Amino acid sequence: MTDLLRAEGVSAFYGASQILFDVDLALAEKRTLALLGRNGAGKSTTMKTLAGIMPARGGRIFFAGRDITRAPAHARARLGLAYVPEDRQVFPEHSVEDNLLIAAKNGPDGRRDWTLPRIWETFPLLAKLRSRDAGRLSGGEQQLLVIARALMGNPLVLLLDEPSEGLAPIVVATISRVLRELGASGATILLAEQNMHFCLRIAEEAVVIDKGKVVHRQDTAGLVGNEDIRRRYLAM
Ligand SMILES: Nc1ncnc2c1ncn2[C@@H]1O[C@H](COP(=O)(O)OP(=O)(O)O)[C@@H](O)[C@H]1O
Ligand SMILES: [Mg+2]
Repeated sequence: MTDLLRAEGVSAFYGASQILFDVDLALAEKRTLALLGRNGAGKSTTMKTLAGIMPARGGRIFFAGRDITRAPAHARARLGLAYVPEDRQVFPEHSVEDNLLIAAKNGPDGRRDWTLPRIWETFPLLAKLRSRDAGRLSGGEQQLLVIARALMGNPLVLLLDEPSEGLAPIVVATISRVLRELGASGATILLAEQNMHFCLRIAEEAVVIDKGKVVHRQDTAGLVGNEDIRRRYLAM
């Protein structure tokens, strides 16, 4: 298996304060990796650094065989790295369908696996809401929309920052199902989460981050039984 996305010894700073320390991550093609950690652990900073929203001050980032450490965010997106930030921004005065069409493009390999019909099939809830203004959707519906919108760009990798955060259990279950289906259909996903239980049936493997450092790696099934790590680094 080849790594599609790899971070080696990455450090990042906000001004003078160092947030990430020597972060190593490897995401193999067609796998889902969970990036777990408490609030403030450095998950979003890691995602932003991978997406090119924040610079890596040290270390290297490789994507699809290239060194993208210095590449700007838009170049990384064009190479097929889709970043879905935690703030769920939609174009509020455009319909669900228009939000999706705005993002439609061929993947970096020229493929167009994701089109509107496949989105409607995968996200039946969005199909029902296709004419509604995106600003009138619930938080969970907006989360589904931003995931679907990222897929419309036919990316090679999805970076999802806390898709379950603050959502009602029923919507969380829908998002969980969608992500499991995506994984089964061969998508490659990095999933940042505080909620370990949400990740269990989605990600095969987990990396635990704390105070900006990777402190543990384990298969998610094993992590459930690892009380020590859970107590020390996760909120349960
Ligand atoms: N814009 C910012 N300026 C300064 N410090 C920040 C900023 N954003 C986040 N931080 C700090 O960086 C650390 C990691 O934050 P973050 O990556 O958002 O964690 P997580 O996503 O795991 O909750 C925290 O200590 C947080 O206070
Ligand atoms: Mg965060």
